[in-house]
Amino acid sequence: MAELAGRVALVSGAARGIGRGIAARFAAAGARVALIDALPDVHDVAAAIRSAGGMALSCCADIAEEDELEVALAGIEEEWGSVQILMNNAAVMPTGPLHETAIADFERCLAVNLRGTFLLSRAVIPGMLAAGRGCILHMASVTGLLGLPGLAIYSATKGALIALTRAMSTDYARYGIRVNSVSPGTIDTPMLHDFVAAQQNPAELLRQFAEMHPLRRIGQVEEVAEVCLFLASDRASFVTGSNYVVDGGLSVRGEQPQDESQLNTQES
Ligand SMILES: NC(=O)c1ccc[n+]([C@@H]2O[C@H](COP(=O)([O-])OP(=O)(O)OC[C@H]3O[C@@H](n4cnc5c(N)ncnc54)[C@H](O)[C@@H]3O)[C@@H](O)[C@H]2O)c1
Repeated sequence: MAELAGRVALVSGAARGIGRGIAARFAAAGARVALIDALPDVHDVAAAIRSAGGMALSCCADIAEEDELEVALAGIEEEWGSVQILMNNAAVMPTGPLHETAIADFERCLAVNLRGTFLLSRAVIPGMLAAGRGCILHMASVTGLLGLPGLAIYSATKGALIALTRAMSTDYARYGIRVNSVSPGTIDTPMLHDFVAAQQNPAELLRQFAEMHPLRRIGQVEEVAEVCLFLASDRASFVTGSNYVVDGGLSVRGEQPQDESQLNTQES
């Protein structure tokens, strides 16, 4: 089903992980997809999408740097015109207790997760206003809703993106621009594997991450991409200002007894 046929979609952080999955899914749905990432691998990802019959172009740029973004966006616009769908996905995740966080790591996290989102949104909104329609998606996280250990600064940026979604949706609804966010639980990506690899027992930690989700596993990139496709499509034409949680039930889970098999949860 080519439900994004003719649309130009920009995906940040598309060289790997969730962004790569979203770019591939949008392209499979017929969109012309512009991939931006700080990693040069982004060019290989775009080439793979083209080999699969999709339309993709790639830009290697740091989304926190206005000059680099300007060059990237000018190239996209020259090739395809205005962006109709913006997926603000790129992020970095400093970890550890707040009092041990270096100021440079704090500032980098704000620069990528918030400034980059601001810069990209600011750049594409005039084209959406001129067209009288558009769709902006922010990749938030369940950490914007829940307290999870060692992620204070990252969580603060994700909570800010959820607030930004609400505020932007009210500013732009009257112009036909929908703004929504997506909050994944733990998803199988390089970001996750980099994080667990730095811990004492990565395999055990991955097992525990799976166990803490009521669906008893971590999520896959495609499961997040599917929700993003829905939100970007006309199927979500009356959806704006929402935060879609894609977390295997994690955020509705309260404290559980250690041994759930002792609970009588079957119908008698
Ligand atoms: N993996 C998870 O469990 C999980 C859970 C919740 C939310 N998320 C969010 O999903 C999004 C994608 O995460 P992921 O797990 O795929 O991460 P990832 O680290 O695997 O991929 C992120 C991509 O963003 C790019 N990037 C980072 N900084 C950039 C910058 N300044 N300019 C351009 N590109 C930059 C990286 O090079 C990388 O390709 C992020 O917003 C993340 O916070 C991830």
